[in-house]
Amino acid sequence: MRYLITGAAGFIGSSLTDRLLADGHEVVGYDNFSTGQERFLTGALANPRFRLVRGDLLDRTALDAAVAGCDAVMHLAANADVRFGTDHPRRDLEQNTIATWNVLEAMRAGGVRKIAFSSTGSVYGEATVIPTPEDGPFPVQTSLYGASKLAGEGLIAAYCEGFGFQSWIFRFVSILGERYTHGHIFDFMRKLGQDKARLPVLGDGKQRKSYLYIGDCLDAMLFAMAKADCKVNLFNLGTDGYCQVNDSIGWICAALGVQPRLEYSGGERGWIGDNPFIFLDTARIRALGWQPKLTIRAAVERTVAYLQREDWVLAARA
Ligand SMILES: NC(=O)c1ccc[n+]([C@@H]2O[C@H](COP(=O)([O-])OP(=O)(O)OC[C@H]3O[C@@H](n4cnc5c(N)ncnc54)[C@H](O)[C@@H]3O)[C@@H](O)[C@H]2O)c1
Repeated sequence: MRYLITGAAGFIGSSLTDRLLADGHEVVGYDNFSTGQERFLTGALANPRFRLVRGDLLDRTALDAAVAGCDAVMHLAANADVRFGTDHPRRDLEQNTIATWNVLEAMRAGGVRKIAFSSTGSVYGEATVIPTPEDGPFPVQTSLYGASKLAGEGLIAAYCEGFGFQSWIFRFVSILGERYTHGHIFDFMRKLGQDKARLPVLGDGKQRKSYLYIGDCLDAMLFAMAKADCKVNLFNLGTDGYCQVNDSIGWICAALGVQPRLEYSGGERGWIGDNPFIFLDTARIRALGWQPKLTIRAAVERTVAYLQREDWVLAARA
């Protein structure tokens, strides 16, 4: 198979690139390097089955050329940052919704019909049913990021109906592991690097969140694409547990050997759109036979070890 991976230089996209190349496929990587890291593609660039296109999803000419001749598109490129959405309201619309529409139009023009999409558990907003299943009450959005991703899901489903596409839509919890470049562990390690005696924490530290290890995430995506054959295949991806931010802080500090004073900003939410409890029901994908291998704690510890080993990442995304 020849896959186009949008966001191929990102945390998840570069990991998926390496996985598909290792499985013997051809990969066209498409990235504008807004948050992606060239170093993540060092191995891929040495592989003759990989081709890198430096391009923006808002550039239809470049996108059309990259999509042509591919068998499937793994659409991962996005503004993946939930927290600062209200600082630049146009960004999520352009980078997540319009960019997704561009991908769909490029696929339509090029006769490519299969798409996998990295959506998010953020689309559930402050869910009323927890663990949250895919078919729970229609959610009220709490972030521009979640809203822009839900709009992307809607467009994909409509292209499946209208133009004979087939899709696999994945609503991830937060992903951890090697090549992790953004999120709470990243922020805490940067702050502790500046001052290991104190750690500012957004909110009251009691937010409950679920996480998934990158290797388990990739396994789940490829497993679902091999096993699920509906027109629109929608899956939550996560572990069967959650932890408090405070638990995660404890594991991070233990791994780093530090005991900072914790300074909470207070309140149930750390920022607008910080849903205090995210825990997804993953029965649908588990029924196909997938289950995660790593616990949340093990995934946190691997992430800390990775950022200690590869501390250039902390500076690269400063
Ligand atoms: N990391 C997580 O915890 C998580 C959780 C839920 C969903 N997701 C989704 O998974 C996907 C990948 O996330 P990630 O953590 O790897 O993020 P990332 O920021 O590391 O990767 C995104 C990649 O897309 C590229 N990109 C962004 N806008 C682009 C554009 N207009 N044109 C071309 N390339 C562009 C960036 O340069 C980057 O390489 C995103 O869609 C994100 O919303 C991630």
